[in-house]
Amino acid sequence: MLRDNDPDKWTYQEHTRVKHALLEKYLRAWIPILGKRNPTIAYFDGFAGRGEYTDGSPGSPVLALQLADKLADSFGRIVLRFVEQNEDNFANLQSVIEQELAVLKHRQKVDVQMTHGDFDRTIDGLLGFLEEHKASSVPSFFFIDPFGFTGIPLETIGRILQAERTEVFLTLMSRDINRFLGLPELDRTFCSLFGSGGWKPLIKRRDREQALVELYRAQLHEQAHASFSVHFKVCSQDRCGTLYHMLHANNSFKGHHIMKSIMFNQGVDGTFAYLGRDDLAERTQTKLFDTHDTEVLRNELLARFGGQTLGFESIMEKMCYPWYEEQPFIERHYREVIKQLEKDDLVSLERVSSKRTGLKGRDRVTFKEADG
Ligand SMILES: C[S@@+](CC[C@H](N)C(=O)[O-])C[C@H]1O[C@@H](n2cnc3c(N)ncnc32)[C@H](O)[C@@H]1O
Repeated sequence: MLRDNDPDKWTYQEHTRVKHALLEKYLRAWIPILGKRNPTIAYFDGFAGRGEYTDGSPGSPVLALQLADKLADSFGRIVLRFVEQNEDNFANLQSVIEQELAVLKHRQKVDVQMTHGDFDRTIDGLLGFLEEHKASSVPSFFFIDPFGFTGIPLETIGRILQAERTEVFLTLMSRDINRFLGLPELDRTFCSLFGSGGWKPLIKRRDREQALVELYRAQLHEQAHASFSVHFKVCSQDRCGTLYHMLHANNSFKGHHIMKSIMFNQGVDGTFAYLGRDDLAERTQTKLFDTHDTEVLRNELLARFGGQTLGFESIMEKMCYPWYEEQPFIERHYREVIKQLEKDDLVSLERVSSKRTGLKGRDRVTFKEADG
């Protein structure tokens, strides 16, 4: 097994680029939205890694720091905490971050601390920081990106999500979890990861990998009390088999909605996946998702909301409950379907947030009474 500082682990690969694209796109939205409304926001990178990859590409902490500097007009203060266990990786992280800090344009707005240690052992300190600042409530984004699947007990994820205004973006190493499931020496590790022995009955399942991801997601909701979650499959570039799943879990519809759109748009339509070698080929196929599947959305909207008047955004939020019935649709699907329903005289619209023809935010949608 390669050590965590082995250069082979630090070549910048396509799957890392995809992971960083999701992270960066989300932070690009998250930082200004929360930064404008709160005196302090926080980014925690629990498995921070090196400052840079072997080709010089920035690691996630540097990416977050550079982005914060670019977006500094949109917030008062950002706290960045990076935790890294491997000594060599930590030394590299420290040196790259120090170089970055020296050239930052908005140094006074950025509060960086790096800890050489184990994520789960430092969590008390990170959560303690949030507790101390409870009065002003610091919206906090936790990136938890291990190489493996040890050291991230579900209990810890639950503690994070129970703190006020937190969210978690996590790498679930589904390929390796699937591969090693059932090894007696890993029994406790899996119980800690999933927060129960619920994985044991899955050992014999043919669709084991998918079942494990679904179980993890269920645990995020049932045990860690997340209100929303969405996941994205990342395959390896050369073999196109699954490597890991990126999961986002939180308690705010707005954040969920943004991450879901980002994940939808990052993957081939409707797959919520980066398909490795096959990704490009899939992209050039006819896009079947939109034309076929929005019929499901149309029927569901009519069945659920017949006779009711609701805000456009509130419709999308209600459609996320219960979490296990949430469909893969994003805002543009809702907009298209509801506008079509208007043409078909099945809904009427009162535009509050948008102009003459748009549909967004607090626009009111009245559904005709369902027949029968
Ligand atoms: C996948 S890499 C992180 C990559 C980084 N987040 C990025 O996107 O550029 C995982 C890192 O976690 C570190 N690590 C392993 N176990 C850890 C633990 N228990 N606590 C904190 N860091 C750990 C490894 O040394 C490695 O640098």
